Amino acid sequence: MSVMPTMESSTASTAPTARTGLKRHYLMCRPEHFAVTYSINPWMDPSAGADRDEAVRQWEALRSAYAGLGHEVSLIDPIAGLPDMVFAANGALVVGGRVYGARFTHPERHAEGPAYAAWLRANGFGEVLDAEHTNEGEGDFLTMDEVILAGTGFRTRVAAHQEAQEFLGRPVVTLRLVDPRFYHLDTALFALGGDNVAYYPEAFSPGSRAVLERLFPDAVVAGERDAAVLGLNAVCDGRHVVINAEATDLIATLAGHGYEPVPVDMSELRKAGGGPKCCTLELRYP
Ligand code: ARG
Repeated sequence: MSVMPTMESSTASTAPTARTGLKRHYLMCRPEHFAVTYSINPWMDPSAGADRDEAVRQWEALRSAYAGLGHEVSLIDPIAGLPDMVFAANGALVVGGRVYGARFTHPERHAEGPAYAAWLRANGFGEVLDAEHTNEGEGDFLTMDEVILAGTGFRTRVAAHQEAQEFLGRPVVTLRLVDPRFYHLDTALFALGGDNVAYYPEAFSPGSRAVLERLFPDAVVAGERDAAVLGLNAVCDGRHVVINAEATDLIATLAGHGYEPVPVDMSELRKAGGGPKCCTLELRYP
């Protein structure tokens, strides 16, 4: 649990800017109990269900992709009866070694918050806050170098943004989500390293779009087609971008900006409204 070393940049890049990837530590949960048995977002259709074995295969490929990029992956045991527990991003927010615990919106997921908090406590994270206000962890909190971007409108409450700011000692910037397909911030925006983002503007209220334009004038702006395959639910280590393979325009744009896209197929997990980022909780140390 110390500062992670800089990942070596082995391949000569033809890209305009040389990007540096940092080694990350991720927490993931194997989708052994994955299913679509209830609907809490517009992607979920219990009558159509989902193929658990295929979800496990896709998840294993994601885990292998992280290992191949040199990242460390820890695993939390899946719990029967919690079909969405695979979406580890929602389990907590971990910044500077401090854990702001999740408090889920829907009763179907309530038990996940304490489960993730217990894992983090048992794995060396001594400072864990059991949140008073409803929040869904890294689903709605995205940590940048200077600020934490925080979504609201569907799940996480503004009061939780304030609670997280006070607990973590980092400025939290509230962003309002307006399209139910993009119910978590991480379905509409991802961090490109610590000081830039990619996002889908139409997912945000006019005021929040103006905030994003002001904070990130060089942002990568994605279109409807890429957003509609959850292409914004991506994971970037500063150089590589693990991203849904169907987000082809965004993948090309990212490559043009000097990033190395790592396409993955998460089509089965998307039936619950999730993608690569949803399956990934970053553990950030001091
Ligand atoms: N079915 C889950 C829900 O609606 C999906 C969560 C996806 N996670 C995320 N970080 N966007 O809560």
